[in-house]
Amino acid sequence: MTEQRGNWSSSAGFILAATGSAIGLGNLWKFPFITWENNGGAFVLVYLICIVAVGLPIMMAELLIGRKTQKSAVGALKEAVGPAWGVVGLWGVLCGFILLSYYTVIAGWSLFYFAKTLGWTMGGFPTNLQTGALFGEQSSNAGLQLGLSLAFSIATVSVVYFGVQKGIERIARLFLPILFGILILLLISALGMSGSGEALRFIFRPNFAELEPSGILEALGHSFFTLSLGMGAMITYGSYIERSQSIVKASAIIVVLDTAIALVATVIMFSVVAAAPEQKEEVGKSTVGMLFISLPQLFYTEVPFGAVLGPLFYVLVALAALTSTMSLLEVVASYVIDEHGIDRAKATLMCGSTVFVFTIFAALSFSDVPILSTMHIFGEGANAKLGWFATADHFVSNWMLPTGGFAITLAAGWFMTRAATEGELGDETAPAWFNYGAWRFFIRFVAPIAVGAIIIAVILGVDFA
Ligand code: TRP
Repeated sequence: MTEQRGNWSSSAGFILAATGSAIGLGNLWKFPFITWENNGGAFVLVYLICIVAVGLPIMMAELLIGRKTQKSAVGALKEAVGPAWGVVGLWGVLCGFILLSYYTVIAGWSLFYFAKTLGWTMGGFPTNLQTGALFGEQSSNAGLQLGLSLAFSIATVSVVYFGVQKGIERIARLFLPILFGILILLLISALGMSGSGEALRFIFRPNFAELEPSGILEALGHSFFTLSLGMGAMITYGSYIERSQSIVKASAIIVVLDTAIALVATVIMFSVVAAAPEQKEEVGKSTVGMLFISLPQLFYTEVPFGAVLGPLFYVLVALAALTSTMSLLEVVASYVIDEHGIDRAKATLMCGSTVFVFTIFAALSFSDVPILSTMHIFGEGANAKLGWFATADHFVSNWMLPTGGFAITLAAGWFMTRAATEGELGDETAPAWFNYGAWRFFIRFVAPIAVGAIIIAVILGVDFA
């Protein structure tokens, strides 16, 4: 059995793959706009606290369950905690399935904008182009959406098909450095712009009068999403770690890199937006569209060397999304491989095509397709989540990730023995700064209470999607 399972070739390979999973649309698309909506500074500070106090301990918990059992989500929870916990693993697999199905659609948009910006760079940016209208046209063009998301799905399946070392790790090793490189170029360019001072103040100067209680919960919910926690993805990646590699050090590196990238992306976007005063109002109207509506034209009007950086930027988004989608598919595929004994090639094709059926629903949610664009389960009035896409996103972000994460805190903090978790975290691979007692306190008390608060807030009607 063990020979058939993949494993990372080295600690660095694993860290890059897991960081690639964490860094994604959550960092480049979602974090900037929720920071904007929640007025910056204080929200960012709360987010950082959540990352350290809740995200980091849960990251260690998931990785330790994976490394200990060398099994993917379902099998790992069964073995580490007890047979009934397989249900929690299945919940995670289902969550990965749904998340992948609609995440692929947004990832497809990055391909569209890559093609568009490349065209503008070659042929000139059209005068009087309405980027809001362009966005609406592309997202409601059913044929285009199906094509883009099919292309992205094929890319995801192709990577996972080749397995842990030859597929996932290889792509992460190749793409993450490119991603970091492009971001640094963009950061240098952004810091040189007139809006950068304002952007830095907005992001790093906390003003607690501007933070609403719902913002605190949103920061907490996002700390889960951005670190790929709460659904067994890190259990699965952890299961390919060798026992000689430290989980504690890896967790710290993944968390620091993910957070740094989210902050850098936000500084870049706000610097660009702040340089164009009329843009602020535009962004205010459609915060969700910042990445695809406000930015495209700014590359051609505000950003130095924007014509080169524009297409590069959308390549960056696509690469970041791909290193996330491949880990989502890995959660689903590794379950089928480990628990049902199907070989990897067959499992990836099977899972990839089944997920794609649901991607079709998500891709058509912005066209005039009855039910898919109009279905309504969650939210009322202005907050109503209309259509398949919004419904799926709401269900995953608000219900599935928090409940899954809550279960994992209980599993690692209360149901596994102290000896079992200490044996993984506090072994000879642990760095000197690590304090097992502190981890145990956070995973038993701080994390479940914080996550429990999100769940209660969701039940009372606060929205995190
Ligand atoms: N972390 C990813 C992002 O920020 C999204 C994500 C959430 C994810 N859960 C995941 C990715 C599980 C891979 C696996 O975009």
